[in-house]
Amino acid sequence: MTNSELKNLLDSLSLEDKIGQLVQLTGECFAGGEIQTGPAEELGIPEDMVQRTGSILNVTGAEKLKGVQKRYLEQNPSGIPMLFMADVINGFKTVFPIPLGQGCSFDPGLVEEAAAVSARESSAAGLHVTFSPMVDLVRDARWGRVMESTGEDVCLNGVMGAAMVRGYQGKSLSEPGTIAACVKHFAAYGAPEAGREYNMVDLSEKRLREEYLQPYHAAAAEAGAALVMTSFNTVNGVPATGNRWLLDEILRKEWNYKGVVISDYSAIAELIVHGVVADGREASRLALECGVDIDMVTDMYAGHLQDMVESGVISEELLDASVMRVLELKNELGLFENPYRFADESKEKELGHCQAHRETARKLAEESCVLLENDGILPLKKEGQKIALIGPAADSAEICGSWSLFWNSADVTTLRTGMEEKTQLSACVKGCDLLDAEPVYIGFRGQELRGRKDQSDLIAEAVEAAKKADVVVMTLGESPQQSGEGAARAFLDLPECQKKLFDAVYEVNSRIAVLVFSGRPLDLRYIVNRAAALMLVWQPGTEGGAALANLLFGDAVPSGKLSMSVPYCVGQVPVYYARYNTGRPAKKGTRNRFLSAYQDIPNEPLYPFGYGKSYTEFSYGKPVADRGEVGTGETVTVVSEVQNTGMTAGTEVVQCYVQDLVSSTSRPVRELKAFARVFLRPGEKKQVAFTLDEKDFSFLRADKTWGPERGRFRVFVGGDSNAEQETEIYYCG
Ligand code: GLC
Repeated sequence: MTNSELKNLLDSLSLEDKIGQLVQLTGECFAGGEIQTGPAEELGIPEDMVQRTGSILNVTGAEKLKGVQKRYLEQNPSGIPMLFMADVINGFKTVFPIPLGQGCSFDPGLVEEAAAVSARESSAAGLHVTFSPMVDLVRDARWGRVMESTGEDVCLNGVMGAAMVRGYQGKSLSEPGTIAACVKHFAAYGAPEAGREYNMVDLSEKRLREEYLQPYHAAAAEAGAALVMTSFNTVNGVPATGNRWLLDEILRKEWNYKGVVISDYSAIAELIVHGVVADGREASRLALECGVDIDMVTDMYAGHLQDMVESGVISEELLDASVMRVLELKNELGLFENPYRFADESKEKELGHCQAHRETARKLAEESCVLLENDGILPLKKEGQKIALIGPAADSAEICGSWSLFWNSADVTTLRTGMEEKTQLSACVKGCDLLDAEPVYIGFRGQELRGRKDQSDLIAEAVEAAKKADVVVMTLGESPQQSGEGAARAFLDLPECQKKLFDAVYEVNSRIAVLVFSGRPLDLRYIVNRAAALMLVWQPGTEGGAALANLLFGDAVPSGKLSMSVPYCVGQVPVYYARYNTGRPAKKGTRNRFLSAYQDIPNEPLYPFGYGKSYTEFSYGKPVADRGEVGTGETVTVVSEVQNTGMTAGTEVVQCYVQDLVSSTSRPVRELKAFARVFLRPGEKKQVAFTLDEKDFSFLRADKTWGPERGRFRVFVGGDSNAEQETEIYYCG
């Protein structure tokens, strides 16, 4: 449709039809929806409004959605097709590592391809929109949804969020195999106080603008995500879903964002609970005035807008602006020309978890794993080595993370299967449950999650297996249900049953390579000094077993680098590398009461952002800048020579950090500005170049303006956020 045709359509709509376009319900109102992702409340929305609903969420399947659309159009007065949305977070039928793992790949090209795979599979299954990428900065491992983000860093999250948007949306949403991206959760949902789910967020405007808002800008304003989702939390006292500064000043006016804004699940009604409005009428009015176009699964818009427009409390122009944005999105998706878009049962079957997609998933899973320790036990031998596989994830299909909703467990290559493709295992035993009997966790569907009280039989079996083996591969970590939404944890330790398993096995066989399956960084101190190897594998997805087997036996070489710092212990969080120096910075290795330090633990995380080992070693020369001074509109290129000094070919993620030495406000001790994956054969050297310009030196200055300031900058290039090789440049703009 042309814009004028859209405008004519808008003008032809009744008030009820217009309001219907702004209502989103769960699929169960239409098709016995498969997924209930939020509070299932009886909405009490009148039947005639249900029939006008503009979109539904979390129903999938080409045949099912074609049927829904057909029935809907037959009985919908406006004849405007419905939008179908879902949480395709880390894959559809082919499931990729959780996004926190994908961030560790530092491979935006592969992450973009993975998003494109998800778009191909889900669009064939009839979906139009995915509620992804989630680009919230995450620095507190107590929060359950760190698994859904690509990590703690401004640069990395922006690059990865934009890559996912490109992958989902392709060059145009009229192209087959694309879906609209929805960036979330706007804003700063990843910084809830105390790491407690849905808790308040209080950040200075400086931190919001310099850090937390940047990735949303990259994904929405730069990469062009078609939708933005508002977050549950308050930002400096005002719930994001009713926050004029965020939604109107920043998003619409400063960023000139023209896309659709959708609330998170029931968030408009929650404005009442937050205490910023007295009732549903005020909640609806505030949200609409802030530019929230779609009300996700409440009766706020459905129950209050008509009366407020008819009584003049809300102007119809305001309503029309939101309705027009929804119509424009439907138009961009081509729904007026073809309400069934790319829904295609045979394509859905052909594409779902097909070989090509599995290859992408395996490769991304290999690149997402982070090798933290290795005394040489890895890579394992395929012959002449008795290998016992022990652990609760050893032969489990539950390795796809809590936000993978549409996969088939039969499609999962378990670790056991992957390893048995390579060699004959001497044993494969569970060793223990994932959880202790207490505390009892609550699963996504409200079910109790707990281990057995007495797991000694499993441990005894593991000890026997370990005795007969040369080496043990042991899986430890979390249940996928222990992370994701509503999964905040106050402790990050491994459960007692897993500690007992490790101790008992270590007693008879100290050659243990530990794989940690988790949705968050855990407190690994209990095993770190005894494990012969330690690899963080997150929740690796449907090809996880194949990827891990390749890494364990050296058919792939670890290249993953931490997207989020691994804390020394929970008392240290939030912990992140881009910290402030303070006026009394602690000096590693010195004890002085009056420095910014803890009395009982180190300041440094157990493993820093950007850290990860390989099966080879890399060395860095001193970086060299092509100019000592850089002015307005100019760039400076810093070149660092990287060499593979080991015996195995491998890929290094070369990272470039910048420190602003003197400025009108304090600045982080360093910030990642660029990175590159570099493949090197043994002995090979490569000159790796990074080009910086004034946007890399810019920040929110003391006078609240944005831009660089004259002065000295240190530029570090290395293999993690503690990179030591540095050079200095002067910005003279
Ligand atoms: C959930 C999540 C959001 C998700 C939405 C729809 O509550 O906060 O990330 O996209 O509801 O399922």
